Amino acid sequence: MLAEPVRACQACGLHRTCRRPVPGSGPFDAQVFVIGQSPGATEDDEGKPFVGRAGAVLREALERNGISSFYLTNAVKCHPPGNRKARNEERTACFSWLLAELSLWQPPEDHLIVVLGEDASKTLFPDLKFTAARAATNLEFEGHPVKVILHPAALLHDMHKRAAFEQDIDKVADFLHPGHRLDYAANYQVFGRTIGFVEAWERAMGAGMIGLDAEFFPDLTMIGWSMSWASGEGIWVPRDAKHGIVLLDDLMDGRLDLAIHSVQADAPVICKALGMSPYDWPWNKVRDTAVAAYVMREPNIGLKDLTFKHFGVRMLNFNEMGGTPEAFAALPVEAQARYAVGDADFARRLWVEKYRDKVLYGV
Ligand code: URA
Repeated sequence: MLAEPVRACQACGLHRTCRRPVPGSGPFDAQVFVIGQSPGATEDDEGKPFVGRAGAVLREALERNGISSFYLTNAVKCHPPGNRKARNEERTACFSWLLAELSLWQPPEDHLIVVLGEDASKTLFPDLKFTAARAATNLEFEGHPVKVILHPAALLHDMHKRAAFEQDIDKVADFLHPGHRLDYAANYQVFGRTIGFVEAWERAMGAGMIGLDAEFFPDLTMIGWSMSWASGEGIWVPRDAKHGIVLLDDLMDGRLDLAIHSVQADAPVICKALGMSPYDWPWNKVRDTAVAAYVMREPNIGLKDLTFKHFGVRMLNFNEMGGTPEAFAALPVEAQARYAVGDADFARRLWVEKYRDKVLYGV
């Protein structure tokens, strides 16, 4: 409906230098309305928004977080020459197209406008600095709630921005699916405080399979370890918990089946903590859910993403826990438990409920 008039637009000089104006694309009943800054060179070639590398990062992140209904557009519809920023007069000339697109949008009740990067943010909120817009929790535009996030292209120039981008995408997903956040509080206990050795030992030995996870510093020194014996239940064992290492030693002696996500990361840490040779690692008893995911053709996605995909539950991510091992180690043990036992819990559930039969029996 708008595509043809956008393609014919001559409201500013950009139509003379671009190859093709790029109208927005997607259903007008989409849940999310994404506004970028201006088309890049690939979009200019193809005449469609977000079909280049930044678009691939954006689509992957949205879909991984369960957001599959989106309309994609840009504040400025033509590619500025040499990839320069759009000028104020160009943004102003193009603004009426954005308003026209928004007036056609008929979203469901739980909807959101997502604004990517500083330039697009300036177009909608000229009086707000980007950092303030990105931090704001109650922005609105034309009566719709808005989240301003980092532009995915930022990651292509600086991979250190990935964590911040993922945090921003998390905010979007939390806004749209608040009910999917796991309430970790229930039965996640702290060894030595809320549960003692005998009970923890009995719970573990009574379970057919336990989930296990280690949190550690870069030098492979353990911050603590966690185990889960049933859905939503488990313990966090801080490194200085009395008898915590004895319990770990008992679990590793080969009597129990263990599910661990990314054994290659955890095995050296656990071996170091136990003073055990990697040659004695009980490989025949340990199921690696990252490897199982690979076998099931789900490579390169982490435990949190697998959990969301298979159980529809959004787990805490490490950035929310400080983002570094040192910051994590400084948190109260209850917070550490909520994060770390979740990992053990879902490693176990992934193996038991999603992978075991398929990997072992090929169904
Ligand atoms: N970056 C944008 O802001 N928009 C696009 O369409 C592509 C890359």
